[in-house]
Amino acid sequence: MNSEKILITGAGGFIGGGLFEKLKHHNPTGVVFNLREGLNDENFIEADLRDGKRVKEIFDKFKPATVFHFAAFLSPKRNEENPEQAKEANMGITQNIVDNLSDDAHIIFPSTDKVFDGSDPNPDEASEVKPLWLYAELKYQCEEIIKKKTDKFHIVRLPIVHSLGQPTSISTKTGRGSFIDKAIIDLESGKEVTVFKNVERCFLRIEELLHVFEVFIGDTNYGTYHVGTKMMNYYDRLCALCDELGVDWKDKIIPVEGNAKPLRQNLNTDKLNNIFGIVLT
Ligand SMILES: NC(=O)c1ccc[n+]([C@@H]2O[C@H](COP(=O)([O-])OP(=O)(O)OC[C@H]3O[C@@H](n4cnc5c(N)ncnc54)[C@H](OP(=O)(O)O)[C@@H]3O)[C@@H](O)[C@H]2O)c1
Repeated sequence: MNSEKILITGAGGFIGGGLFEKLKHHNPTGVVFNLREGLNDENFIEADLRDGKRVKEIFDKFKPATVFHFAAFLSPKRNEENPEQAKEANMGITQNIVDNLSDDAHIIFPSTDKVFDGSDPNPDEASEVKPLWLYAELKYQCEEIIKKKTDKFHIVRLPIVHSLGQPTSISTKTGRGSFIDKAIIDLESGKEVTVFKNVERCFLRIEELLHVFEVFIGDTNYGTYHVGTKMMNYYDRLCALCDELGVDWKDKIIPVEGNAKPLRQNLNTDKLNNIFGIVLT
């Protein structure tokens, strides 16, 4: 099967938009929810992926060999407040995708570090999941839907993904990005930002994630992978990025205490490093 026939769902989003641009030389097809301003490429198709018939039409037409499945209902808060919609847009869409996936096809799916509750100080891919929030429970259920259908998957559990403040992709041009990106943009314009000093996470630069995804195309080391930097707190991450970018942050990044749950969430990324030799910064 030719792994070059690539379909990207969520191609108008933060990560999917970045990957669509990076993989232009593969001529990918991108599915977007609505073709809004900034999303003008002949390879975009508009679809509500909750509609199983529409998903079938798309798969019958494009017969993708590699599917990057990013379309999802994000934000833990939004999921908690809209549980039915959250279930439909996470599990429902994922079920529609796998129902139409051919037996030879390869699927690549981003899950989350939130499948863990922070009680294990260094969870690896075999560690027991303990989601605290509906969003994470649904992402884990999506992992299970994929695993039930096929062995040809790369599931990546991701921490917070960020850019370097500047628009680098379709998605950031259309207003998507992380807390870190918004903080860098605010600091660049001289504003103060308050940042949690006591909340520790792994982090992931979008460019490094997109590289990992490109490495996965045609790769047969299928399985679940944790992807992220060593754990650090938000304050230290932001200060280090500002130093790297030459952004003046002295007295402008205000450290505060947060009550995020869990306070510390690590990811053991040895498997990714051992198999692919990828070091994340
Ligand atoms: N960003 C992170 O830090 C992070 C961390 C861990 C995991 N992830 C996972 O990575 C994936 C991409 O995240 P992201 O940050 O790129 O999010 P995003 O910018 O919100 O992208 C998600 C995309 O899904 C699309 N979508 C939602 N409902 C749809 C539907 N019914 N039909 C078709 N498309 C639909 C959205 O379309 P619209 O643009 O039109 O709304 C959006 O473009 C998600 O699965 C997320 O759970 C992200």
